[in-house]
Amino acid sequence: MASLRSLILLLSISLSPLIGLSQICESGLGYCDSESKILIAGGTVVNADHQEVADVYIEDGLIVDVRPNIKVADDGIRVIDATGKFVMPGGIDPHTHLAMEFMGTETIDNFFSGQAAALAGGTTMHIDFVIPVHGSLTKGYEAYVEKAKLACMDYGFHMAITKWDDVVSEEMEIMVKEKGINSFKFFMAYKGSLMIRDELLLEGLKKCKSLGALAMVHAENGDAVFEGQKRMIELGITGPEGHALSRPPVLEGEATARAIRLAAFVNIPLYVVHVMSIDAMDEIARAQKSGQKVIGEPVVSGLVLDDSVLWDPDFITAAKFVMSPPIRASRHGKALQAALSTGILKLVGTDHCTFNSTQKSFGVEDFRKIPNGVNGLEERMHLVWDTMVESGQLSVTDYVRVTSTECAKLFNIYPRKGAIRAGSDADIIIFNPNSTFHISAKSHHSKSDTNVYEGRSGKGKVEVTIAGGKIVWENEELMVVPGSGKYISMPPFNYLYHGIDKADENYLASLKAPVNRVKPSL
Ligand code: URP
Ligand code: ZN
Ligand code: ZN
Repeated sequence: MASLRSLILLLSISLSPLIGLSQICESGLGYCDSESKILIAGGTVVNADHQEVADVYIEDGLIVDVRPNIKVADDGIRVIDATGKFVMPGGIDPHTHLAMEFMGTETIDNFFSGQAAALAGGTTMHIDFVIPVHGSLTKGYEAYVEKAKLACMDYGFHMAITKWDDVVSEEMEIMVKEKGINSFKFFMAYKGSLMIRDELLLEGLKKCKSLGALAMVHAENGDAVFEGQKRMIELGITGPEGHALSRPPVLEGEATARAIRLAAFVNIPLYVVHVMSIDAMDEIARAQKSGQKVIGEPVVSGLVLDDSVLWDPDFITAAKFVMSPPIRASRHGKALQAALSTGILKLVGTDHCTFNSTQKSFGVEDFRKIPNGVNGLEERMHLVWDTMVESGQLSVTDYVRVTSTECAKLFNIYPRKGAIRAGSDADIIIFNPNSTFHISAKSHHSKSDTNVYEGRSGKGKVEVTIAGGKIVWENEELMVVPGSGKYISMPPFNYLYHGIDKADENYLASLKAPVNRVKPSL
């Protein structure tokens, strides 16, 4: 392998002056490593429902065979010994913001640096949020198609809805039927920019239902947050701690409950993104108990960090943790972990939305101007393993479910993604549970000069990442090419939609109306 690799001229480029080196092929097209046949031998192959010691044979980007003792003629085949290691589906991150224009600036990671970071951390696909341009979905979509030309791994799109009229309604249909987008996000916060009101949310939910699209909400009461911000400024609290104090858990709980009740009223599944508090999680649990289809997505920052950092006397140290909803007191993170382990919360995202120190400094006088967002794309797979599997809260199969398979199922691309089985895309990680990971802005692949997980170490390490059948991460070395990533089209009507029509029929039957009345004779 080394000799084959040495034939390939690699050009080292710096992703930013502040971070380590990555590599791209001189040609700028295709992957550096031309191997198309790979045998992963002797590892423990883990899917969401089963694990066994087996070999995995890959050819031309697809998994061809999964079983013990696969025999292949050894010409031109790369054999990787995975004995003692886990062979798992590559991670799928349901929630990222690459090259997103937000709060007067743009996230520092674009579709190349963000995806390079993802691959180094064992994530092989992500779903990014397209933000409309002045409410136009078409313009937003076109802008993101441009941004994504830098992609070096597979990706899909969600779409935010920020205004409502007949054009938006028609554009939603085009996005689903022609552009492969099957989910729409409604921001109940960020008053004055992305926030929508209940009237729009109801229209949007109805439209999602007619299209079989998954409705997603950022659940915080934006009006009350606005009021909370004013209150903090009046109290003279202008630093990053004011961010958390202005939007307490009760505002997340309120909006989550409201969105859940409106979804129940429309009879549509609901996906709550970045669940950060017990208040929101309890609402989701209550709805599930009553039979409502509500998906809760915790993000890594909410699971493993706590809000004490926001009180750090150094502005940048505190500001780097500013995100919305905010990182909460530690009991919230512990409760979210428990909810993930019992299945109340279903899959883990990152909400990767990175801003560097200069950008975070925009809010040095006023926390309302600190761009909201934290990193996580590169760290998610390691931190979820260390926090959830090493502590005994998740089995290895459940780890695969929450980091990959559930996302593939929800966004209707399973088993092409999220599984190690014949016919699936060859997106695979080889994970050594006996190794260790270390996190630092000095070695990460994001373009940001800070990392909210700075200094963390833990058990387990993604040693090899295979994306689309190519080895893209091995021996701590990235081999990625801008432009080589594929857009993954996602069809509507996921499994949550099964039975919705029957429930509608039962609802209509239960009305016992309209009543045929004899008109009073006046
Ligand atoms: O702080 C956050 N979460 N930034 C990204 C935008 C969003 O709300 O998802
Ligand atoms: Zn959000
Ligand atoms: Zn987000």
